[in-house]
Amino acid sequence: MAKQRILSGVQPTGNLHLGNYLGAICNWVAHQQDYDNFFCVVDLHAITVPHNPQSLAQDTETIAALYLACGIDLAYATIFVQSHVAAHSELAWLLNCVTPLNWLERMIQFKEKAIKQGENVSVGLLDYPVLMAADILLYDADKVPVGEDQKQHLELTRDIVIRINDKFGQPDRPVLKLPDPLIRKEGARVMSLTDGTKKMSKSDESELSRINLLDPPEVIQKKIKKCKTDPIKGLWFDDPERPECHNLLTLYTLLSGQTKEAVAQECQTMGWGQFKPLLTEATIAALAPIQNKYQHLMADKTYLETVLRQGNQKAAGVANQTLERVRAALGYLPKL
Ligand code: AMP
Ligand code: TRP
Repeated sequence: MAKQRILSGVQPTGNLHLGNYLGAICNWVAHQQDYDNFFCVVDLHAITVPHNPQSLAQDTETIAALYLACGIDLAYATIFVQSHVAAHSELAWLLNCVTPLNWLERMIQFKEKAIKQGENVSVGLLDYPVLMAADILLYDADKVPVGEDQKQHLELTRDIVIRINDKFGQPDRPVLKLPDPLIRKEGARVMSLTDGTKKMSKSDESELSRINLLDPPEVIQKKIKKCKTDPIKGLWFDDPERPECHNLLTLYTLLSGQTKEAVAQECQTMGWGQFKPLLTEATIAALAPIQNKYQHLMADKTYLETVLRQGNQKAAGVANQTLERVRAALGYLPKL
């Protein structure tokens, strides 16, 4: 039986942090052998908020290199750049015309980002989830591994599929495939180091709130040293009164590769002064191989370029077929 298809992506806005890694990419790597995977760098999404044209190309390469450095294996996965496959923009337009405006106005992430931006909100920011739906649907993805924050966008994608199939498909011949989210429990929501009730985010103004995958050891040490804790001795999971404690223990569990039970036992009588060096060491050790591989890939870009060129061809082959199927269902004159 053919393997199920996976599609996911990360935006090339600067560096990746531990939330992206533990919430998304680790999950991709862990299960890659079981699926036929497509991982894209979603550079079209990156311009939905004001962006820097000087760094977009470089940031796109950085994310692609980090996919490889984190362990994505080309034997199981295709890595490509979203804007290199024109079908993403084309399908997004077709989907736009069947998506009710009020579905988009309801999106939590849009509301949050729109509030942050005040007057300067682009149509693209509102339309972002439709482009994301196009990303997923072009590949007939069965599963979409993401962090918890993307759940609502996946629900929207499903609603769009149901609507298109209902309007333009036959009961036995749907136009688009209905995808399922794949959300891992542990690490699905990595929280900020400066506020355990807020998620770790690229857009937080404070660099101290997140650990980036490419942070050197001394920066990691400093960030953990300064991170928010509480005055209680003894560390335990799942206490709503101690969000920072839960988050830091979870990070330690995931980064050291131990079980939750083992960490609960190890840390139950510890104070923060004892725990922080352990977390620092585990973080540095977990990131060192990724950083080495990344430096290696960036030192000679020819390999990375080959990966992206081949990825583009393979992705476009799949995407263009789906696009043609949707065009046909909507009644378009076939491309000549
Ligand atoms: P973004 O940085 O918004 O492009 O997100 C890329 C991926 O990382 C998505 O699958 C997100 O759900 C995931 N992600 C982002 N921030 C976090 C976080 N703090 N905890 C867990 N997953 C996250
Ligand atoms: N919106 C996602 C995020 O910010 C990124 C993304 C774009 C994505 N297209 C996608 C994730 C398709 C999964 C599948 O995290």
